[in-house]
Amino acid sequence: MRIDTATALYGIIGHPVKHSLSPLIQNLAFKQLGINAVYLAFDITDLSSALAGVRALGIKGLSVTIPHKTDIIPLLDEIEGMAKAIGAVNTVINKEGRLLGTNTDWLGAILAIKEKGEIAGKDYLILGAGGAARAVAFGLKKEGAEIVIANRTYEKGKALAEEIGAKVIPWERIRKVKTYGLVNTTPVGMWPETEKSPLPDEVLGNFSLVMDTVYRPLETKLLRQAQKAGCICVDGLKMLIYQGAAQFRLWTGQEPPVEEMFKAAKAFLEE
Ligand code: ATR
Repeated sequence: MRIDTATALYGIIGHPVKHSLSPLIQNLAFKQLGINAVYLAFDITDLSSALAGVRALGIKGLSVTIPHKTDIIPLLDEIEGMAKAIGAVNTVINKEGRLLGTNTDWLGAILAIKEKGEIAGKDYLILGAGGAARAVAFGLKKEGAEIVIANRTYEKGKALAEEIGAKVIPWERIRKVKTYGLVNTTPVGMWPETEKSPLPDEVLGNFSLVMDTVYRPLETKLLRQAQKAGCICVDGLKMLIYQGAAQFRLWTGQEPPVEEMFKAAKAFLEE
């Protein structure tokens, strides 16, 4: 691809960003669609200076990752409703100099689940009450699911449950719950602790659909258990690709090659 004076710049800001898959998938999409743009990773700690740079240089769009998703909110010109509710921005759109903050994490989760299962009228147990849990919980709620939250620190789970109108149960009771769906948003099972799972084998039969937001490894122990129990399995990479594809649509108005982005990310992770 030729880089010239018309090339548009996009990027991800975070700290660290070294392991991000976003440059791989976004550049693949720009290339496939013949869009004259590049997407780079910026490891930044000084958020307000970085945003001054975005404005000054006319960077067209940003992905935002840990630890900046919440702190960026007061620094932008406008915040879309779901991002406001979740309390996190993962996407910035530069609209002729005005920086609009939005959130596609919830949409990534919803699209990944909807591809294989149902949401409206179904009940879901969410494990965790951090940033990822908030995106999943607000998304599922918006789509009409009933939600039960369980978090290691009960009070934090209770606060989230009250905020969205969900039930809360103590962490010790997750083995006793039967719901249509289960979503793990905790890091349990993440590399290098790949032999860990939030639940014992025999309990997976309590769920019809199991989603893990962990994607390193791609197939977590929880998903292996779920597979054995005959559950519908949704992996964290799907959520990641779908949130990225949603960002691409917002930035360009075009449909990205989602399947190829997924394959490229999967191959990269397997390497
Ligand atoms: P993220 O943005 O990825 O959601 P986070 O905001 O730090 O990350 O949230 C991590 C969540 O995983 C929290 O709900 C955390 O529970 P606490 O509120 O008790 O900290 C949960 N978590 C982290 N490690 C865990 C573990 N070993 N077992 C169970 N829950 C865990």
